[in-house]
Amino acid sequence: MTSHVKPLARIFSGVQPTGNLHLGNYLGAIRNWVRLQHDHECLFCVVDLHAITVWQEPAELRRATLEVAAALIACGIDAEKHVVFHQSAVPAHAQLAWIFNCVARVGWLNRMTQFKEKAGKDRENASVGLYAYPNLMAADILLYKATRVPVGEDQKQHLELANDIAQKFNHDYGRQVFPQIEPLILGPAARVMSLRDGTKKMSKSDASDQSRINLTDDPDAIALKIRRAKTDPEPLPHDEAGLEGRPEARNLVGIYAALADLHHGAVLAEHGGKPFSAFKAALTDLLVATLSPIAAEMRRLLADPGAIEAVLRRGAERAAALAAPTIAEVEETVGFVRL
Ligand code: TRP
Repeated sequence: MTSHVKPLARIFSGVQPTGNLHLGNYLGAIRNWVRLQHDHECLFCVVDLHAITVWQEPAELRRATLEVAAALIACGIDAEKHVVFHQSAVPAHAQLAWIFNCVARVGWLNRMTQFKEKAGKDRENASVGLYAYPNLMAADILLYKATRVPVGEDQKQHLELANDIAQKFNHDYGRQVFPQIEPLILGPAARVMSLRDGTKKMSKSDASDQSRINLTDDPDAIALKIRRAKTDPEPLPHDEAGLEGRPEARNLVGIYAALADLHHGAVLAEHGGKPFSAFKAALTDLLVATLSPIAAEMRRLLADPGAIEAVLRRGAERAAALAAPTIAEVEETVGFVRL
């Protein structure tokens, strides 16, 4: 019998090495990557080139790069089977990004809402890198001709731009070099909100550490943050409709549901009618059970930075090998003399 093994679709995704990873990163992105790795060929990249589009303290950038790599592995990414690396270790990212700088139009980038948000009022003072950020992101993905990209809602516009770049490149040079990308947009179900304000996303840039659960928080810190988490005075509702207009209640129920892999309704069927104090205790137990092994594994990995660097080195070698044919094809297509 002959068996035809369909090649697995290739996934690329990136995470910035800025600040601490938190529960929102885990439930919103990393846990999804862990699941996707079973039926895809994956590249997971710590995007340090993207990070420096805004100022980063060098020592902190280095620390965060290793910590994010450790977190991915601790959360269950298999760095033997898949490629885990950091962006600056594979110069082809910057190389292809330059070419995309010459394909993307100023008008396209002017429409990017994330640039407007991040640059704020003082646009004249934003780095050119921040402006060209989406071109580098397109290069990250298209360098490997990855066709599936798991990202949050906020990155959707960047993926549309990447598809525009791929299409214009192919059209201008009259060759089908780049594939179209399919965004795997993670729904709002995976969106974890601040513990202090249920209408704001949980964020590493929030001034209050009480607003987020870091992956490295110990059980006491988790318990305290959940105990202090904002709620309203009502007990938990019995069904999902009862979460309407109660963003903090919805957030805590959502976190519980995501951790337990249940629907909101199923969580409320069990906990509806209870006061928040009781629910918070159950939520804390669930958080500690999920995050403690991850934190312990991160500590173990980070105790030997040489070992993480070895993983990243191996990842970078494999990524560079996968990128080389695309770079050759692009140089040939564009008309660069190849020596
Ligand atoms: N811009 C993404 C973010 O901030 C990170 C990123 C960089 C990325 N390159 C990527 C995500 C390529 C997916 C694919 O979340």
